[in-house]
Amino acid sequence: MNDSTEALDLLFEPVGGIEKFRQEYWPDRFVTAEGSPERLAALTGGRAMTSLEDVLAVYDNPVMVVGACVVDATGGITDRFLVPPGEALAWYEQGAALEMDFAHFFLPGMSHLVSAARKFFGLPGGTVAKGIVYAAKHGGGFPVHFDAYVNFVFQVAGEKVWRVRENENTTLPIQHYDLAQYPYLPEGVQRVWTGEPPAEGLPDGREVVLRPGSMLFLPRGLWHCTASGEATLSINITLGQPTWLDLVQHAVRRSLLDLDEWRELVWTDADGELTPGARATVERALREAGSRLSRLTPEDLLRERDQALDPYQETQGSFRRSLGFARMLNAVPPAAPSQPSRQRSSSSSSS
Ligand SMILES: [Fe+2]
Repeated sequence: MNDSTEALDLLFEPVGGIEKFRQEYWPDRFVTAEGSPERLAALTGGRAMTSLEDVLAVYDNPVMVVGACVVDATGGITDRFLVPPGEALAWYEQGAALEMDFAHFFLPGMSHLVSAARKFFGLPGGTVAKGIVYAAKHGGGFPVHFDAYVNFVFQVAGEKVWRVRENENTTLPIQHYDLAQYPYLPEGVQRVWTGEPPAEGLPDGREVVLRPGSMLFLPRGLWHCTASGEATLSINITLGQPTWLDLVQHAVRRSLLDLDEWRELVWTDADGELTPGARATVERALREAGSRLSRLTPEDLLRERDQALDPYQETQGSFRRSLGFARMLNAVPPAAPSQPSRQRSSSSSSS
């Protein structure tokens, strides 16, 4: 075991260690257990991180604020948005739950840990693996939803109430869904949805109270919601759950990209209909694709495992990393020249 795997083993001690967890619960069996709060220092490489102030001292990135006070402030338009970290405490005091996503960017110990977790569970290199810190009080929390990820939740401070319920509407979801969106179902959910959704607040779900030191494994797709009557802090390790569908998209592209027909411009007439020429091109392209794709093998798909398998998260991560870099390096814009240079002036006028 290397240091990071040892740290994971310590964190998973309440369920018998990480190997036992993998055998008994990974990837789809819910479990929660109580353990010592002291072991949670392994989440942050030993750095003290037991209060929101500790987190905000290092987390230099936009903070997601969620809750009724955001609904009120926006006249009902949204229940969440991003705010600069300096404004997060004020929202927290008003009852918003705070989400500090990609927290591992600011904590090297956590960064090693999330990578080690991805490797330990045999997930492809392109899988999103990240740390997230949550803080709330005054009843703040997240409304009912399910995720397309798995979450390992470690409760650092305070008592937080979770409600969890089996998902009878969909299996193996490939995207997050908030119950508040119902009856709207995005296509990725609608295509695999059946029946009526659960009641708001999951009254027939299971209640779990997390206390400092508790851990909870939330498999992909379980309905859940949270509430913090008192000040709480928790740290999540979140692992993406890439599917064969994610890999096949890259394999299809790789298989077809050397065919000229597939690199033709998409071109329609003024009514948005296919022109006869375009139709003939696409029909040829599809015939050739059928032949090539039927020869793809499982190994061809596996070859794509190091591709970026979640473009949305990749974009979020790049954006947040670049914001963090600029501030970490204390970068300031170059001073404006006292007089516009002739060269610059002429180059801008030529554009
Ligand atoms: Fe969630």
